[in-house]
Amino acid sequence: MPEIKILPSILAADMANLERDTRRALTAGADGLHVDVMDGHFVPNLSMGPAVVAALRECHGPATPLHVHLMITDPARYAEAFIKAGANTVLIHIEADGDIPATLQAIRAQGVRAGITLNPDTPATAIQSLVETKAVDEILCMTVHPGFGGQAFIAEVLPKMATLRGWDPAIDISVDGGVDRDTAPRCAAHGVNIMLAGTSLFKAEDMAAEMAAMRADCAAQLGTGT
Ligand code: DX5
Ligand code: ZN
Repeated sequence: MPEIKILPSILAADMANLERDTRRALTAGADGLHVDVMDGHFVPNLSMGPAVVAALRECHGPATPLHVHLMITDPARYAEAFIKAGANTVLIHIEADGDIPATLQAIRAQGVRAGITLNPDTPATAIQSLVETKAVDEILCMTVHPGFGGQAFIAEVLPKMATLRGWDPAIDISVDGGVDRDTAPRCAAHGVNIMLAGTSLFKAEDMAAEMAAMRADCAAQLGTGT
């Protein structure tokens, strides 16, 4: 399984102080930044657009991984704008409209990692052919119904993570929603290597300590040391 990474979800940052908070996250040891894009249609909330990704790219330079999660109905229409803005990874939902394999291919064709996301109730089999044909670089398992930060982790998704890991030992598998120091190691034990966490990190008293503890607890769970 690939190495454990932790990416704070900036949805939980102070939007009036996004530069300060994202610097704080990166200084605290974040492996990149997770950016949640919501269109008010695929999910009942609105959030950020390509301008925010461009601003983060400008602010943090070319080396900071920007992980863009499109919770939007029509990803084919907007993916390119996020790539132009500086995304390194673009994740779309299998439940979205349009030709999903073609959209993933178009994302990769622009030199960017392509990810597929599953809502909590969507079975692993919905993306089996994408995994078997190596059409994606990352699989994102939602452990909340997307749209809002600060929701409770849905533990029923854990077996799906293990199923996906069984299909591909090398692929990146991420988890998003209610990820904290308690739930992250459980996800790691089920094959997840990328932890996306908003509230638990940005609202922590000491983000660096929280992230270090999460990393250590995941490593301990995997038996790979501290
Ligand atoms: C949910 C978003 C998540 C969210 C996670 O729709 O995709 O990335 O920010 O927030 P927490 O960690 O607070 O559940
Ligand atoms: Zn997200």
